[in-house]
Amino acid sequence: MICLKPQGPLAAALLLGALLLSSWTGSAHARDPIAGKARAGMCATCHGSQGLSQLPNAPHLAGQPAIYIVEQLKNYRSGKRQNEVMHVMAKPLSDQEIDDLAAWYESIQISVTVK
Ligand code: HEC
Repeated sequence: MICLKPQGPLAAALLLGALLLSSWTGSAHARDPIAGKARAGMCATCHGSQGLSQLPNAPHLAGQPAIYIVEQLKNYRSGKRQNEVMHVMAKPLSDQEIDDLAAWYESIQISVTVK
């Protein structure tokens, strides 16, 4: 067994890392793209597994700013933005689930070429 005894700057760095990690995961409303990705399975039929739409009438979500996705999902959920399919999809989602989904779609890197 290898035994590491952190000292000096290494110990300080480890401590700082642990503190940063705990403040990151400890925050009640942190957006979690990993949880969002898991939940996005039920969205993939229409919006694609990587947020690139599979249907001509469904918009791409990959790379959209989270702030926009959150607003749209809350609007579908409340009925402020009306669409039967998306109302059904958004209705059971909690605020945290919406935040996570938005974080996941925002995290997908896309590149666009204008021709
Ligand atoms: C059965 C197909 C289908 C499924 C499943 C589906 N969507 Fe949609 N989604 C659509 C369609 C169609 C629209 C466009 C609706 C409109 O005209 O407002 C849309 C619109 C959206 C928009 C608005 C995008 C924009 O550019 O304004 C968001 C955000 C969204 N969907 C997220 C989701 C999420 C998250 C899920 C999974 C929880 C999901 N959708 C599941 C079909 C689907």
